[in-house]
Amino acid sequence: MTERYDNQYIFSVPNSLFDFERLQEIALRNLDDVQEGLAFHQRRTETEPYLLELRERYPFLSPLYNISTAPAGYVVPIHFESNRNCAINVPVSYMEDSFTSFYEPLEPINSEFIPFKVYHEVKTKVKKVFSYTMTHPVLINNTLPHDVVGGPLKDRTILSWSISPKFRFEEIKEILKDAIRQ
Ligand SMILES: [Fe+2]
Repeated sequence: MTERYDNQYIFSVPNSLFDFERLQEIALRNLDDVQEGLAFHQRRTETEPYLLELRERYPFLSPLYNISTAPAGYVVPIHFESNRNCAINVPVSYMEDSFTSFYEPLEPINSEFIPFKVYHEVKTKVKKVFSYTMTHPVLINNTLPHDVVGGPLKDRTILSWSISPKFRFEEIKEILKDAIRQ
C-alpha cells in the first residue's frame, strides 16, 4: 500500500473527493491543446464539465489548470511560488523515478524572481527536510522551498490545479479533511 502523507508540505488527497482517473484522462486529452491567450501549460476548465462540477463543489479551485510535461531527467531548481499558496497535483505519467523535496533555509532567505517561471529561485544555503515520489494526488504547499528531480527515462507529466491565493495550505487541508468526514 502506498504511503499517505499529512504534514506541513503535502497532504495525500483521497479518491473519495476527486475522481483522479477522470482528471488523468482530461489531462491526457488536453495535453497538446495549447489555448489562445494562455501560457503553453495553462488550460481553461470551462470546456470540461467534470472540472466545472468540481469547481462548484470546491470554489477555491482556480478557473485555469496546468498540464506540465517535463523532459526526461529535468530538474526544477529550488524555488517557492508567490502567485499561489497551494495546489492539487495529480500524477499523469512516469512518476516512479521522480522526487519532490522540501528544504529549510539555513540563513535568511535570498531569492531571485524568475518572471517566465512565475517562481522565486532560492539562492540561500538549505537543508533537505522532506522528500517524496508523487505516486498519488496531493495537496502541495507551494510557499516553502522545494525542487523536483525528474526520472531519467521518460517525460514526466502532471496536472496541477492551483487554489485561490486567498487560501493558505493549512486552511485547504482542513476543508478537505472536513469533506472526507461528510
Ligand atoms: Fe513548485
